[in-house]
Amino acid sequence: MKTISAIKKAKGNTPLSVITAYDALFAKLFNKQVDMILVGDSLNMSFNNKPDTLSATMDIMLYHTNAVCQGAPDTFVICDMPFGSYTDEKMALQNASRVYQETNANAVKIEGGKERAPIVRTLSQNSIAVVGHIGLMPQFVRSEGGYIVKGKSEEDEQRLIEDAKAIEEAGAFCLVIEGVKADVATKITEAISIPTIGIGAGNGTDGQVLVWSDMFGFFEEFQPKFVKQYLDGASLIKTALKNYVQDVQTRKFPAQEHIY
Ligand code: KIV
Repeated sequence: MKTISAIKKAKGNTPLSVITAYDALFAKLFNKQVDMILVGDSLNMSFNNKPDTLSATMDIMLYHTNAVCQGAPDTFVICDMPFGSYTDEKMALQNASRVYQETNANAVKIEGGKERAPIVRTLSQNSIAVVGHIGLMPQFVRSEGGYIVKGKSEEDEQRLIEDAKAIEEAGAFCLVIEGVKADVATKITEAISIPTIGIGAGNGTDGQVLVWSDMFGFFEEFQPKFVKQYLDGASLIKTALKNYVQDVQTRKFPAQEHIY
């Protein structure tokens, strides 16, 4: 398993590969294959069919993080702190402590810029490893009125760089940059000394993260521009399922070799 110091040393070297996972079955397939696994609150959309991530709760995140840790015991696991679980420092510390006490996750991730720096500091000072998350932050979708790509103006660029510096200074060991113009994500990466992990943020970050159900073609509702699809999972499953139903209906299954 990658240590935090090895992850930090990846800055400027071979890019870090990160994938999300939500259950033990798939986590087992990803174990030792990637640098880190993120139990993202995106599970609320892809696994629970909710319109956004906001209704994921601490209990839901702990349940899925436990499952992922069971499946991927040799991989660094990050648990996403859900919406409303870190609105002040005391609450953040209580909830993040649950992640360490109730699962084997190695770190937590929180969304927010410099306004969240005191929370990152509190967690870091209490020995909880923190991954920051700036740019397009899905937990802000309702308050911002949509998923809006960031870094389109000079002012926004400056704000993002300040956010990144504040999160680093507060003690985060790594920073996710989501939905940010590629040139701006590169400038953020150059402005801080912790590794950046991009999603929809171009090719100048220190690593990439993708949601597994997007990259393997299981999430059919929409395909963001930044996703590269490595498998046509949904159609493979549908074809296989059709074959199964046909086999059952024609009594081809079970065949002799499946019978006691
Ligand atoms: O919830 C999630 O999967 C995430 C990634 C998109 C970075 O936060």
